[in-house]
Amino acid sequence: MCGIVGYIGSQKASPILLAGLSKLEYRGYDSAGIATIEGNVLKVVKNKGRVESLYNLDDTKKLEGSIGIAHTRWATHGIPSKINSHPHLDNSNSFAVVHNGIIENYIEIRKFLEKEGYHFISDTDTEIIPNLISYFYNKDTKNDDLKILRAVKNTCDKLIGSFSLEILSLYMPDNMIVVRKDSPLVIGKGNGESYIASDIPAILSYTKDFYLLENFEYALLSRDSIKFYDNDLKEFEKKSTTITWDAMAADKSGFEDYMLKEIMEQPTAVRETIGSRLDDIYCNFDELSFTKEYLSSLKQIYIIACGTAMHASLGVKDTIEHLCKIHTEIAVASEFRYRNPLIDETTLCIFVSQSGETADTLAALKLSKEHKAKTISITNVIGSSIARESDFALYTHAGPEIAVASTKAYTSQITLLTLLAMYFAEILETTSTEELEKLKLDLLALPNKVETSLKLTSQAKNIAKNIFKEKDVFYLGRGIDYATALEASLKLKEISYIHSEAYSAGELKHGTIALIEKGINVIGIMTDENLLKKTVSNIEELITRGAVTTVVVSETTSKQIDHSIFDNVIVVPDTNIYLSPIVTVVPLQLLAYYVSKEKGLDVDKPRNLAKSVTVE
Ligand code: G6P
Repeated sequence: MCGIVGYIGSQKASPILLAGLSKLEYRGYDSAGIATIEGNVLKVVKNKGRVESLYNLDDTKKLEGSIGIAHTRWATHGIPSKINSHPHLDNSNSFAVVHNGIIENYIEIRKFLEKEGYHFISDTDTEIIPNLISYFYNKDTKNDDLKILRAVKNTCDKLIGSFSLEILSLYMPDNMIVVRKDSPLVIGKGNGESYIASDIPAILSYTKDFYLLENFEYALLSRDSIKFYDNDLKEFEKKSTTITWDAMAADKSGFEDYMLKEIMEQPTAVRETIGSRLDDIYCNFDELSFTKEYLSSLKQIYIIACGTAMHASLGVKDTIEHLCKIHTEIAVASEFRYRNPLIDETTLCIFVSQSGETADTLAALKLSKEHKAKTISITNVIGSSIARESDFALYTHAGPEIAVASTKAYTSQITLLTLLAMYFAEILETTSTEELEKLKLDLLALPNKVETSLKLTSQAKNIAKNIFKEKDVFYLGRGIDYATALEASLKLKEISYIHSEAYSAGELKHGTIALIEKGINVIGIMTDENLLKKTVSNIEELITRGAVTTVVVSETTSKQIDHSIFDNVIVVPDTNIYLSPIVTVVPLQLLAYYVSKEKGLDVDKPRNLAKSVTVE
């Protein structure tokens, strides 16, 4: 939901800002813009469209300043247009601001400023910010070093909503101010220079040392220093964090798209997520150190997430209940946050989020804490808001995921949640040692199984050629396969714009079967031997009505079906049923990918979507 970049140092800022924006386009790509200060002039270049549209503008090439802020937009207030793009200036062209987030009370503030004589040229919520800063600056009679910082703080105090802000001002041409509240922002520390971005990978090629700003912490940057101020504008020392990811991990490394690269990285991502958590005897979760007494006191586990992370959670519900014998609920964060959930200290709440910044998941986490539940986060981004806010932070080690459609984060999340369930079961002694041992061995073999699933690439590519012209596709599954069906269907609709729906195989005949007619594509997932016959019967009912069918089966279930009745049969490697979503989803991710490619679409940046949804 909008990406922001900043630079202050002795190099020319614009190439650094453009490179950073390109890495952040997954957050939005409706329009982009840059502001720098040269001499005593604020120079602003902005344009509707993608970041690359800025590259060739003469005005961009002319930007010489070595201090600058930049933005790539995912429109919330006001259509994508040049005038609505950031940076926004105040009426006197003295303050420039880029903003990620939403200001909920902007209409009220706008009316107030209009009464004070300010005028507005855009439809955005953001434009009130430089003007309110200007208002407070002009009213302040004290002329000390903190005058601008005070104006920014007074402004932030009035804002309701979420924001991360970068601010330039002609009144301090060699400084920049940044601040955040509920939207991400990191500062990278270089030698005589600093980099700012919405996330770490965007500036990882410049530095590995980062400051992770907390809500209402203000940073005043100059070429040589970064001063931190708390919400009372008292200066304080802040510790930096060293990130060990390799910058290459955030590049395409020769792949046509990030999504394909990330699909192919899944064996490594799963392997890294298992890491050293499995040893001969125990599952290692040193970060948690839960006692048997605490775990036995739990009446329920809630896993709360959005989108693909929610599907990953659905994929482990049965595993947790089976291994730990604790009732487990999966909740959509945007619903959960507005309910009055029946949770207390006897509930454990687990929050799953690739980015660690999803606004609804973060709000649900805060609500759970108010209800006294213990909270664990599972995120892929070290130091993300959800990780910091939770009682216990666990990380998937999938590496940066850039494509909007999530793939390796999903398989890593299921891996980590399964390990967590095993850890609980070991403490609770609710599962036999033999079964846990078997599951451990199956987990260790999993990266190789995912490797085998990736060999289905050309089959997925061929099936895509028959699907890309379709208008509707249905996905079916039972039990754990139903969770995979939901995720596979989401992947297809996200990047191919084909309408698709996932149904539990037994539910389809309660209404939706009315939509099945000759030529409709149905994809059945049937890796659970115990449920196979039931799902086959359901699919046969659809074949009778003219459906074109593709089924995904395991090596074992493949031997138990008559291949000739289906149009396509995809065989994935056998694995433990509780790990099956991880191997089964792979050919379906590839299918969605190749359907999108056949349609000539931008796989990594599908329309209307953003990778990190930091607004409600
Ligand atoms: C967006 C993305 C999805 C993602 C969801 C949750 O909708 O497009 O791919 O699954 O947000 O994101 P999170 O970062 O919390 O996993």
